[in-house]
Amino acid sequence: MKLKHVVCSALALLGCTVQAADKNEGAMIERGAYLARAGDCVACHTVAGGKPFAGGLPIISPMGVIYSTNITPDPVHGIGKYSELQFAHALRDGLRADGKHLYPAMPYPDYKGVTDADVHALYTYFMKGVAPVRQASPQTSLSFPFSQRWGMALWNMAFTSDKPYTPVTGQSGEINQGRYLVQTLGHCGSCHTPRGAAMHEKALTDASPLYLAGGRVANWTAPSLRGMKGWSSDDIVVYLSTGRNDFASVGGEMTSVVEHSMQHLSDADLRAMARYLKTLPPVPNAKSGLRVDAEAATTRTTKRLSEARGLDRGAMLYLNTCEACHASNGNGAKGIFPRLNGARIVVQDDPSALLDVILRGAQTPSTKKAPSILPMPGFANHLNDQQVADLATFLRSAWANEAPPVTAKEVTAVRKELLDFQHQSR
Ligand code: HEC
Ligand code: HEC
Ligand code: HEC
Repeated sequence: MKLKHVVCSALALLGCTVQAADKNEGAMIERGAYLARAGDCVACHTVAGGKPFAGGLPIISPMGVIYSTNITPDPVHGIGKYSELQFAHALRDGLRADGKHLYPAMPYPDYKGVTDADVHALYTYFMKGVAPVRQASPQTSLSFPFSQRWGMALWNMAFTSDKPYTPVTGQSGEINQGRYLVQTLGHCGSCHTPRGAAMHEKALTDASPLYLAGGRVANWTAPSLRGMKGWSSDDIVVYLSTGRNDFASVGGEMTSVVEHSMQHLSDADLRAMARYLKTLPPVPNAKSGLRVDAEAATTRTTKRLSEARGLDRGAMLYLNTCEACHASNGNGAKGIFPRLNGARIVVQDDPSALLDVILRGAQTPSTKKAPSILPMPGFANHLNDQQVADLATFLRSAWANEAPPVTAKEVTAVRKELLDFQHQSR
């Protein structure tokens, strides 16, 4: 011990400290990699089949197509020349190293609250833990006036906060940790908070009841996360780490969130996020929901379907095309086929996510804890708009579900959006 100590002090500036620094740096890189998962940087900064973080993903926005950039440490095409301060500005203020403004397709309004310590870990990871990729990302060229990046300065003044993230006093350390992850790195609000006319999130913190009150992404409803009625915090943890639970299975953009981000977080962090979500009061007076006599209503529909008598067109379609997997009581099969009885996706006010699943199908992601991939077939080529409307109307009034009917016109609109979207993403 003694000898090592002496040698170490003699070589203080060489071997021993270097070794210690390496060890610290290794831990810092690992921490940064974890935080990059929490922030889901890879989802936007990587194209399918491409090198991690090399950018080039086209992000479709109402302003036009915005390409994500190369954030590997390549000095020419990536962010190799970024100082830590410049990196912090990009992440939290939407400012590039050259002083130009980023478009908010990069969720910097949400990342605003990321702490200096976490920025440091992220920076260390991106500089030292990510392989540089020599590859230019396609130029984003929006039409006027959006081509004017300086215009974003005004947008930022109006719609972003310049206040650093502050923990809530009087809440437990766990809830505050969850709040931090949800509000900053997790950028859950970028999809789950409604957006205003200028495409800004109507609220960036839980100081507003609109925060996480439900939003829309790529033709899909991201439901309200406020209070999560009917879900325990364990149910939320299971959903986030496996993409499914007894009440729902992921679809739309949330599939990628689970696959690239949430399934990699520690149970402690997921539990903290779930507990935090449970502290938010639910959105008052949503139009749709569940019947008060949920059990009796479930029995009524189940009986009607099993006897196959006096069925309307929607119920007939359900029996012929869906019942084999989702069952006549609408409860599916635990862990395999999600329940449609009491499912939020079926009864939420805006039916477009439901219509989207029926038309396009869906696939549960393969995660470490639940590796099987379960496909739901799409029916766009088998059912016409009136049939899909009849079917959706049936689902929204079957069993315990109670939500307004759906018209063929609404189906036509969703079908068109789907086609446009596929067209643009090509
Ligand atoms: C929802 C998509 C999305 C996510 C998630 C995302 N980014 Fe970005 N990011 C973008 C887009 C798009 C741009 C380019 C915007 C532009 O050109 O105005 C960008 C730009 C950047 C830049 C500026 C680089 C440059 O010079 O062009 C940095 C740095 C950056 N992102 C880092 C990150 C980090 C770190 C994370 C994770 C914590 C992250 N991003 C997560 C979409 C995203
Ligand atoms: C890129 C957009 C996006 C982001 C970011 C996002 N979500 Fe989602 N989320 C969705 C969509 C879309 C759905 C609906 C999925 C469906 O209908 O199957 C959803 C569904 C959910 C659900 C299920 C709700 C229900 O009632 O069925 C939970 C829980 C959830 N998200 C939590 C989160 C959390 C926590 C975060 C942040 C860490 C987050 N989401 C970030 C898009 C997103
Ligand atoms: C071959 C079995 C099968 C058939 C037939 C089937 N589904 Fe599904 N369905 C699934 C699976 C598996 C999922 C989960 C996929 C996912 O969202 O990741 C699912 C998911 C869903 C969801 C989303 C549930 C949620 O919580 O996100 C809805 C809504 C749905 N199905 C409705 C229908 C309707 C309506 C029909 C008939 C037109 C139908 N399904 C036919 C297997 C099936």
